[in-house]
Amino acid sequence: MTFTILMIVFLVLLPTTVTPYQTILVDNLKTYHRIKLPSSVIGPESLAFDAANEGPYVGVADGRVLKWNGHVQGWTSFAVPPRHRGVSSEECDGNSNISMEAKCGRPLGLQFHKATGDLYICDAYFGLMVVGKNGGVATRLTHEDPRGVAIRFTNGVDINQETGIVYFTDTSTKFQRSAWVWAVATDDATGRFMSYNPRTKEVKVLVENLEFANGVSLSKDGRFALICETTKQHVLRYWLKGHHKYKARKLEVFANLTTYPDNVKRNSLGEFWVGLNSGRGTIHKVKDSETADTEIIGIKYAEGGKVLETLYQNDIMNSVSELVENKGTLWIGSGVAPFVSMF
Ligand SMILES: *[C@@H]1O[C@H](CO)[C@@H](O)[C@H](O)[C@H]1NC(C)=O
Ligand SMILES: *[C@@H]1O[C@H](CO)[C@@H](O)[C@H](O)[C@H]1NC(C)=O
Repeated sequence: MTFTILMIVFLVLLPTTVTPYQTILVDNLKTYHRIKLPSSVIGPESLAFDAANEGPYVGVADGRVLKWNGHVQGWTSFAVPPRHRGVSSEECDGNSNISMEAKCGRPLGLQFHKATGDLYICDAYFGLMVVGKNGGVATRLTHEDPRGVAIRFTNGVDINQETGIVYFTDTSTKFQRSAWVWAVATDDATGRFMSYNPRTKEVKVLVENLEFANGVSLSKDGRFALICETTKQHVLRYWLKGHHKYKARKLEVFANLTTYPDNVKRNSLGEFWVGLNSGRGTIHKVKDSETADTEIIGIKYAEGGKVLETLYQNDIMNSVSELVENKGTLWIGSGVAPFVSMF
């Protein structure tokens, strides 16, 4: 595996910034690293590390979940969706043609349940799936809600590590991922935030009428979940349990943004990284909003909502989907790039 050193990150305080938080510019003058995916594979949208902190595992555009084993072994294939008979791995592996997604699968959100080693996968087409710690063909858990309404676009996932309850989003009940531009263009508000209990197999709709429900992250204590509502340009906070100020099931805005949030991931300190994705400017074009030359690609929030850091880039990452902080390294996912970045 080539390990190209391209850039370094350096710290600057932008002159226009009035708030005293740290601003980091990812610039092409210094170092940042890229791990190239296997040939013709693209789109590591979400990343996860297993109970032994191995990985990352990434879901890619050809339907597989790949595991990074370090520079000697490189990438290995870890999981595939339960594809219909007649759809072969020869046909899917390395095929990033979007017209193949519905057949081959498209894993988006990934999260491990550390106690069991199970990996939960939100496949945009196959629904919520799980695969054991040795990988293989994933099992489909649900693809409809209790009323029988189809889950058409499974997207973000997180797990309460104590209870094992899985929280996930369905971006739209109308549009599949391949038609996501239509969901944006029509202000589709059929997205849901849902839960799945592995013990009882019960599926619940917790919040509905969301506009492009996307990434999900639970707070460290499991009291609330953050949900990215992409086209509304904000991150919601949903109280799962009561709090001295809030009742359970209360929904409120956690953070307003000037661009489009994709995924959100919590670090070990309980802080959240929100990945900001303009879809190479596509969402901006569809929504007729402005794009900037120096693009914000991520914001780190304290548990209470205070901005801790913002991450900028000039022109090196054309579509950031997710930021995962793991043991001092920040990993960057993308729905379209042929690599995973880190620094
Ligand atoms: C993708 O697949 C479709 C249908 O199979 C085909 O018409 C199209 O040319 C393919 N696109 C590319 C870029 O290969
Ligand atoms: C987000 O914006 C709305 C509308 O302008 C405002 O009412 C709300 O207080 C803001 N919330 C946060 C957390 O900034």
